[in-house]
Amino acid sequence: MKTVTTRALQALKQAGETFSCLTAYDASFARIASQAGIEVLLVGDSLGMVLQGHSTTLPVTLDDIDYHTRCVARGKEKSLLMADLPFMSNTSTERLLQDAGVLIRAGAEMVKIEGEAWLAEGIRELTRRGVPVCAHMGLTPQSVHQFGGYRVQGRDSVHAEQMVADAQALVDAGASVILLECVPAQLGRLMRDTLEVPVIGIGAGADVDGQILVMHDMLGVSARLPRFAKNFLAETDSIEAAFGAYHEAVKTRRFPSEEHSF
Ligand code: KIV
Repeated sequence: MKTVTTRALQALKQAGETFSCLTAYDASFARIASQAGIEVLLVGDSLGMVLQGHSTTLPVTLDDIDYHTRCVARGKEKSLLMADLPFMSNTSTERLLQDAGVLIRAGAEMVKIEGEAWLAEGIRELTRRGVPVCAHMGLTPQSVHQFGGYRVQGRDSVHAEQMVADAQALVDAGASVILLECVPAQLGRLMRDTLEVPVIGIGAGADVDGQILVMHDMLGVSARLPRFAKNFLAETDSIEAAFGAYHEAVKTRRFPSEEHSF
């Protein structure tokens, strides 16, 4: 695998090829994921749930993400490293820039932020300063209390159309990637076909440009397996083989199937 850059992801989209993404939190798993060919590693604030045992991602701090990004950066090989901006990094554009600066210094090559069209100014300022941005939309876990639980988003056509318009505004502001979580497969497809940038899905159906899973779900060690996830360790005999099986299943579009979609 060649070194994965934002341009490489864009080229995959243009070629109609899918790519695989996975969360990573330490050097050892990052190395295995890279060697399996997984194109993008995310130091997600899901670490608050799968590593720290919280019931939401909200307690995760910038220091937590900074620490785990440094660990993953030391272990990963050619994969692109994305890091999450934690809850409340977006209270002001100045704070967004400072927090993103910390993560880029830690080794991140792209930052991910949760939000909608109102994030446009922050994204514009980040990209102006050379920081690639992934905008996370749909079920954004940092808003779990406002949503009243982890619920599928964009089910009605008005909300779905609004989400497409918001995503377009974020792309116009400079977002290099859109990540869509827990939306109907039809909306995932519409986003992929409408937007010029790659669309990564988690619970967004098969017809997006890339797929992402939380590593603990993919290995079946999470307390509860979400409907959109699959335990790849269950059908292989090692962690290395499970990472490879996940990558292969995404590249050949065998994952996700309808049972993992909304
Ligand atoms: O924090 C995380 O791991 C994420 C993924 C679920 C996309 O945001």
